[in-house]
Amino acid sequence: MGEQVRRAVYPGSFDPPTMGHLDIIQRAAQLFDEVIVAVAVNSQKQPLFSLEERVEMLQECCKALGNVRVAALDGLLARFAQQVGACAIVRGLRAVSDFEYEFQMATMNRQLAPEVDTCFLMTHQQYAFLSSSIVKEVARLGGAVDHLVPPNVAHKLRVKFTSTTAGTPTP
Ligand code: PNS
Repeated sequence: MGEQVRRAVYPGSFDPPTMGHLDIIQRAAQLFDEVIVAVAVNSQKQPLFSLEERVEMLQECCKALGNVRVAALDGLLARFAQQVGACAIVRGLRAVSDFEYEFQMATMNRQLAPEVDTCFLMTHQQYAFLSSSIVKEVARLGGAVDHLVPPNVAHKLRVKFTSTTAGTPTP
């Protein structure tokens, strides 16, 4: 009998992906045989980047990681995890403030798919303060975010905010 592949799903909005996300992806890729980064369509949020843009940015960020692939997540995460045969859902924890929301989601996902465990990985302390929202805010107002996001994402942010008037400082 062949060895069972330990597959994990790392879901998120990734609007846009940050160095914190990449840190978690790298950690998960070392712990599991395969990692599927699942980019949520998430109808409740109005994303800055389209689903296609977010998938493409993550594919570029993960191209050096042979056991990581990127997919779109449209629908229930628990069902997606079951469909791809994952044994775990990975989430990054930055601070205690993340916990309540994460606990709620993990509990619901356990009810929906009891055989899939949620696995929390601690983000490197360097990225403990980092979020996609804060990156967008700083980039929109013309601040430097090059050290907070992968280079291809920094480029996309620059293009996004110079092609709109949103981040243009008033004279
Ligand atoms: O990066 P985020 O925005 O914190 O990610 C949230 C995400 C995408 C993991 C969550 O919204 C999700 O799981 N969406 C898929 C739909 C779903 O299954 N919702 C119920 C979660 S208990």
